[in-house]
Amino acid sequence: MEFISDTLAHYCEEHSSKEPDVLAQLNRHTHSHVLSPRMLSGHLQGRALAMFSHMIQPKYILEIGTYTGYSALCLAEGLIEGGKLITIDINEELENLVNKYIKDAAVVDKIEQVIGDALTIIPTLNYAWDLVFIDADKLNYINYYQLVIDQVKPGGYIIADNVLWSGKVIDENSLLKDKDTQAIHAFNEYIHHDGRVENVLLPIRDGLMVMRKY
Ligand SMILES: C[S@@+](CC[C@H](N)C(=O)[O-])C[C@H]1O[C@@H](n2cnc3c(N)ncnc32)[C@H](O)[C@@H]1O
Repeated sequence: MEFISDTLAHYCEEHSSKEPDVLAQLNRHTHSHVLSPRMLSGHLQGRALAMFSHMIQPKYILEIGTYTGYSALCLAEGLIEGGKLITIDINEELENLVNKYIKDAAVVDKIEQVIGDALTIIPTLNYAWDLVFIDADKLNYINYYQLVIDQVKPGGYIIADNVLWSGKVIDENSLLKDKDTQAIHAFNEYIHHDGRVENVLLPIRDGLMVMRKY
């Protein structure tokens, strides 16, 4: 389900900053060579992530769910001098592709790619995060949040993708039968009632939950 018409979405993209060339290439490559290209953040959400990152001016960013590296490259745009983004993905098949685009975007010194299960890797990381982007398997969204919340600096941000799950979060049938929908809805409810953060659910693309830690 698209929340706004294709024409209006196109208008938004046309009136947002252009995708940097390397991201446009990665977007095209992902759509022509990689399975499930809808997972890629894309032009509009990518520019929104880059904009948030510039606003936050993070030193340390954690991304959970690299896929082909599109959102990692967007988020890295706002890193301050000497800053670093660590991105985790369980799928080793895309490692070389992600590396190629990290090199092409000239951010080798800013992005570290880690292959493995985020649930076991996150507890081994010793950083005070300014920004965390949660975009891996939906069943573990609450677990990822619980793992990172104490590692996030006071005043730091967590952003979670796909929190509207194509609109299924308000569909009774999906809420009854679909485990991913149930997990996303439970995550949204949990965050909304968690006193450790303030939050806003933005209907950008498939829904971004933006949280600021008190
Ligand atoms: C929606 S895609 C990420 C898209 C990417 N952030 C972007 O916007 O371009 C989700 C990714 O999470 C990864 N993933 C799923 N379960 C994971 C886990 N337990 N640990 C780490 N990565 C996982 C998948 O392999 C997949 O590449």
